[in-house]
Order: sequence, then structure tokens, then C-alpha cells
Amino acid sequence: MTIARKVKIITVVGARPNFMKAAPIIAAIRNHNELLVRPSIGMHSGRSQTAIESVLVHTGQHYDEAMSDLFFSDLNIPKPDAHLGVGSGSHAAQTAEVMKRFEEVLLRERADLLIVVGDVNSTLACALVAAKISYDTPGARPLIAHVEAGLRSFDRSMPEEINRILTDNLADLLFVSEESGLHNLRQEGVPDHKIHFVGNTMIDSLLAFRHKAHQSPILQNLGLEGDIFRNESHNGVAPYALLTLHRPSNVDQGEGFTSILEGLKDLAGSHPIIFPAHPRTQKKIVEFGLGHFFIHQNRPDGGSKPTPTCASGRISLIDPLGYIDFLCLMEHAAVVVTDSGGIQEETTALKVPCVTVRDNTERPITVKVGTNVLAGTTAEGIRQAARQQLESKIQGAMPEAWDGKCAQRILDVICRELGRER
Ligand code: UD1
Repeated sequence: MTIARKVKIITVVGARPNFMKAAPIIAAIRNHNELLVRPSIGMHSGRSQTAIESVLVHTGQHYDEAMSDLFFSDLNIPKPDAHLGVGSGSHAAQTAEVMKRFEEVLLRERADLLIVVGDVNSTLACALVAAKISYDTPGARPLIAHVEAGLRSFDRSMPEEINRILTDNLADLLFVSEESGLHNLRQEGVPDHKIHFVGNTMIDSLLAFRHKAHQSPILQNLGLEGDIFRNESHNGVAPYALLTLHRPSNVDQGEGFTSILEGLKDLAGSHPIIFPAHPRTQKKIVEFGLGHFFIHQNRPDGGSKPTPTCASGRISLIDPLGYIDFLCLMEHAAVVVTDSGGIQEETTALKVPCVTVRDNTERPITVKVGTNVLAGTTAEGIRQAARQQLESKIQGAMPEAWDGKCAQRILDVICRELGRER
């Protein structure tokens, strides 16, 4: 079979929450190309005949093994074609460094379309480069596709909110994950033809890898699984809570961080709390002298570990985990306490109660139909929300189009648009 022509797509990843959002898109491109050369394995009539050259760029915003490499292997993401190695820095320095290095890549690759995902500094930096570049003639630039468009916390003190607003402003194709995104973009005057409600690629990853997560040894390694937990209410897994905290507004001031930890004391007295802590958070615990809130369990990489107990009322602090182990821990938790955006969505999909340690959320569907409650950041708010969620009988529901087919819908739109464009 002859393949009509080829287009080039650059996908950018940079920080931990990007990897699970981009992985299904990269897999969908690979699948698309395989079907072109082996149509007998199920080419649907009407699907684009255009081959896609896929270029993966990692900005290096996150660089630790646990914050980056583990996710590539867990999610079967191929090795990046370009690694920009920008590392950490102030917002301005990090954004500028990504821009400088990404411009060179884009001028070399001359892609037809750029895909950016989520709301991290790398997302905005690369979209901004693409919006201003000229390949040959003025204005000859790639189309810009933003995956997870339209989410708004309406809190401009959040760096991610600035990244979301500006990236959406620059994008030609805005792929929306929940109904609030449609509403927000229309309110901002984005024309309908740019907006595509496709669902959530992060949930594509969750549904694709849930089975693998069931085989994770993490529960055993942390001493949370065993016959001692087998009784009429627990089938071999201890009732435990899972905690993540990394947002600068929560951990960068000693007083605020302390009051969040105070708010978790009751929960720590009734459930072991497992806390895979972001490197930023680990540094702040040392800087503010908050070590007395924690038991350091460290790397849960096998061997016999002490069973986490709630007797001490302290939180079990471990290093950050890869995708598969973390997914396993989320799925079996009695409650998840977090300030992450993505975890609000993942717990909704898993129907696990979630307490969000923030005053607002850019993902309101997780509160409306899902299992999420906003606790605020005061000790009392967190205490009450945790109690409410542990007693809650709310089942939650899967939001519209969170069905594991989002990346394919995105690719269908992209192929159609690139067909029109050229
Ligand atoms: C970034 C995203 C945030 C996302 C989070 C998930 C922005 C503005 N923020 O925040 O939306 O929720 O990732 O993890 O893009 N560090 C390491 N090793 C690493 C990465 C970071 O030690 O691999 C430490 C460094 O001290 C660094 C700090 O963490 O200065 C912050 O990293 P940075 O990428 O600037 O922001 P995050 O807080 O990770």
C-alpha cells in the first residue's frame, strides 16, 4: 500500500504530570502508523492515510530518576528524540531556558504541529516559541495543540493558572477534558471551531495501566498487605491513607505547612498515612524542622519493612514513586489527601475518596460528579474533610468521555486539521 504523505508532530513533556498525559498520544501515533503499513490488522475506512513522524522532546524540567525516568519505563514511553536538560530554576529562568533550547529544536525539525499538555512551565514555554517562530516565510509555523485546555482555578497567584490561560490563548487546537473547560473557553471568546471536547488522556493511561498496577509489589513492600489484615471488612490490605503535598503555596511557608500537618494528626492516629514526598517538600521539611511529624520509611524497594502503624500518630515519609506503584497505592487507599491537580481526577476515576488541600480547583467535575472534596488549607478544614470522606458512602461517577479513547479522538482531529492545512 502506498502511503500518501507524511506529517511531523512534536510532542513536548517536561515535568512529572506531563508523562501520563502524553503517553497515550504517543502510543496512538505509533498505532496509527502501524495500521498504515499493516492495514490487515484493522484499518478503519475513513481514517487518515497520512503517516506521522513523531518527535518526542523532553525539556528536563524534572530530571530525578523518580520524577522522570521511572515514568518513561512504567508508561512505555520511547526515549526522547531531544532532551533539553533545563533542570530547575526560578519561573523566569526555567521558562526562558526551555524557550531558548526548544527554538533550536523546532527550527531543526520544522514540525507541522506541536502538542503541549497540561499547565507546567514547559507547556507555556514551548507553545510561546511555536507561536512566534517563522520557518521560511513570516508566519510559517506549526499548529499548536493544547491538551487539557480550558481548566481554570480563577486564582492567578497559581503559576499553573498563568500557564493555562496563556497557552490556551496561543493554541490553534484546544482539547478539553471536562465540561467546565468548554464553558471557560467560550467565556474567554475562543471560537467554537478551535475547541474539541475529547475527554482525558490521563484517564487513558490509568485505564491502560490499571491491570499492571494490580501486580505491583508496593503494598507488600510497605507492609500494608498480609494475612493479619484479612477479616470481614478488609481482604488482606490494611486500611491506610495516601498523602501528596508539593504545591509551593502549601509547603513553602513554615506556618502554613505546619498547620496542614496539624490537620492530619487525627487521620494519622487512625490510619497509617503513606507520604511519597516530592523533592521540594522533602527539602522544606528539613528547612522548617518538621521532621517530628514523620517516620522516615524511605525507599520501599523490597525486603522486610516495618508495618506502618498509626500508634505513633506520625506520617510515613517515603521517596517519590513511579506511576505503577503510585496507581496501586491510590486504588487501595481508604482516602487520598493531596494538593495535586491530576490526583483529583485519578481518584475520581478510581472512585476513591479524595481530600484536596486547596481552596479551589480547576477540575470542578471531580467535586460535581466525582469523589473529591475541597478542604481548604486550615487544620480544622482538613480534619473535618478527612473525617467526612472516611465516613462517606458517595460512589461517584465517571465524567463524560473519560473512557480510555481520548488520545485517539485527539489524533483524529489532528489528522483532519493537518489534512486541511497543507
Ligand atoms: C511542577 C509544576 C507543577 C506540578 C509539579 C508536579 C510548574 C510551574 N509547576 O512543579 O504544576 O504539579 O511539577 O511535580 O511547572 N526538583 C528536584 N528534582 C526534580 C524536579 C524538581 O529536586 O526532578 C526540586 C528542585 O529543587 C526544584 C523544585 O523541586 O527547584 C521545584 O521543581 P519545579 O519543576 O520548578 O516545580 P515543581 O514544584 O516540581
